[in-house]
Amino acid sequence: MARNKITIVGAGNVGATTAHIAATGRLGDIVLIDIVDGLAEGKALDIAEAAPVQLYDCNLVGTCDWEETRGSDIVIITSGLPRKPGMSRDDLLAKNTQIVKDVSERTAQYSPESIVIVVCNPLDAMVHAAAKVTGFAKNRVMGMAGALDSARFCCFLATELGVSVEQIKCVLMGGHGDDMVPLPRFTSVSGIPIAELLDEAKIAELLERTRKGGIEIVNLLGYSAYYAPAAGAAKMTEAILRDSKTVVSCCAYCGSEYGAGGYFVGVPAVLGSNGVERIIKLDLNDTEHAQFRESLDHVKGLAAKVDELL
Ligand code: LAC
Repeated sequence: MARNKITIVGAGNVGATTAHIAATGRLGDIVLIDIVDGLAEGKALDIAEAAPVQLYDCNLVGTCDWEETRGSDIVIITSGLPRKPGMSRDDLLAKNTQIVKDVSERTAQYSPESIVIVVCNPLDAMVHAAAKVTGFAKNRVMGMAGALDSARFCCFLATELGVSVEQIKCVLMGGHGDDMVPLPRFTSVSGIPIAELLDEAKIAELLERTRKGGIEIVNLLGYSAYYAPAAGAAKMTEAILRDSKTVVSCCAYCGSEYGAGGYFVGVPAVLGSNGVERIIKLDLNDTEHAQFRESLDHVKGLAAKVDELL
């Protein structure tokens, strides 16, 4: 059986780390593409040279040539400027819209049957751009943010509670910004709601840390996170390629769902071989719904700016 083909656009920290995780997860053959001469080639070769140690068999190609990406099953878009200290994700909108536009045109040209996972920021707006430019069916375009943000929340909870990360499950909705909506009511440790284990003040503290999780890393490193974002992108890729019907919080197209009215925004979704196969509709309470609406309004504002630029 032929292996799946995964193209990762952008050979920076997120792209290269996604390639490495995808290779170690044996998800398929990988093409890493970048506009900088030698960068993708060098990183792909380095990852290929780790294969005899980590024992994965896959073709790893690093290139500047889109021809190599032809016929990919999945295209992961990580290219774009990352945040620096003092910048919000929204500050990247104008430059990254142009980059995503260019990449999306080529994706549609070379891999018209692919499923696209967008990773660059401002995330929800860049998914909107990729969907519009590729013209792909909405279930075949999605964004990786909830997988990262919920992983951060789970990480903080596991540390606080001294329990295995494996047993913590959470749902996170809304846009990938400081107004994201983690849902403690839908967060549990092996089925035990976290409200049984932590007081309100502690939960509020961990939620706030989750919302600011991106900037916490930027302030420490001077540049954006990449291990956890790459792990999130690889997890979504795996769910799609293995048709596992895994429920992942991710940026997906919502028509009538949650009253979104035709926008890409973070929701719990079932991922499988058809991409976003279903959006799970939760019965949000008034507070949760209000938080989601506020975050959605922000996403809508950014999408309107993208429309002006495209
Ligand atoms: C973060 C960036 C990648 O949340 O948006 O770390």
